[in-house]
Amino acid sequence: MDDTRSDSTPDYRLGVGGLMLREAWYYALPASGLARARTLHKTLLGEPVLVGRDASGKVFALRDTCPHRGTLLSKGKFDGREVECPYHGWRFATDGRCTAMPSQTGAQRPQPGDIRADVFPATEHQGNIWIYMGAKRATLPPVPSVPVLGDQQQMHVSMIFDCNIDLAVIGLMDPAHGAFVHKSSLWRNEASIHEKHKAFSPLPENEGLGWRMDRHTASSNSRAYRIFLGGAPETEISYRLPSVRIEHARTPRYNYVGLTACTPITADRTEVHHVMYWDVPMLSLLKPVVRRLTAGFLDQDRRAVMSMVEGLAFNPQTMLVQDADTQTRWYYRLKREALAAQAEGRAPQNPIAPVTLSWRS
Ligand code: FES
Ligand SMILES: [Fe+2]
Repeated sequence: MDDTRSDSTPDYRLGVGGLMLREAWYYALPASGLARARTLHKTLLGEPVLVGRDASGKVFALRDTCPHRGTLLSKGKFDGREVECPYHGWRFATDGRCTAMPSQTGAQRPQPGDIRADVFPATEHQGNIWIYMGAKRATLPPVPSVPVLGDQQQMHVSMIFDCNIDLAVIGLMDPAHGAFVHKSSLWRNEASIHEKHKAFSPLPENEGLGWRMDRHTASSNSRAYRIFLGGAPETEISYRLPSVRIEHARTPRYNYVGLTACTPITADRTEVHHVMYWDVPMLSLLKPVVRRLTAGFLDQDRRAVMSMVEGLAFNPQTMLVQDADTQTRWYYRLKREALAAQAEGRAPQNPIAPVTLSWRS
């Protein structure tokens, strides 16, 4: 079937809806949210994760349940080198080795050398902390990277959406809701809707499974861009499984990069992170305003998705139209492919071919 044309098959009913993809990097928190010699708890994909930063500044992650009786290790002490369980004082190095079991006599089993806490690969990159959720420990895929300005993170805003990761991802990527959900004099409104044609191509293999909206001059109704970047910018947007969208807008003088990443907390709760990078002096002066606008914008998306969640609870017949819903269709198609490739132990094949999509927004 031609990938870009629609039928009314609701792809998200084909067995992947709401599943949380594993073997992938997930956004955990901004690097600035974790001081040296500190740990904190995150639930990612329904799993308990202790995220920590050791005394030397290095980030690490352990399963946050003590191998002894399951107590949250993040409730215990951390001296910058070892985590101590608050219940019986077992101690764990940041690589998961158990180093002390105070209750055990020398003759008893197990001894610390017999015990290990599970470790999750964790890394700090461009101001963000990412955790790898999966069984693989060697040859991990590259962490998502923003194209420029990677050392100039300016702002992080996050929000919890009470829905599965799919509804959060497609709710944010949907190209046709702007005039209705984000109606505003600063942004866009129904009167500004016009026909658009955008060229898309698959992401290069080394960037993961996804697609790119090729570089183009931003739409005439993206008024916020023109105000802040001082002219009509060129933008490029990429989307990569499981849930990372990167937008790069640039004028001859300025750059703006937005990274949006959805991380499942559980199967029906998702944390949406939006990280911004820019080199626009005016935006830096207006940070409190930008923060408020961004949080408001994200909340509009959240409320729109919540209304959909309420409707979907009645199990309605739904449809995907051409071409405004093509990216939604691609998302499910790629997710199915990623799951099939994992199940069959092969490399995934990107089914997307270069194409121009048209819609009105
Ligand atoms: S529960 Fe952690 S040491 Fe016993
Ligand atoms: Fe939106």
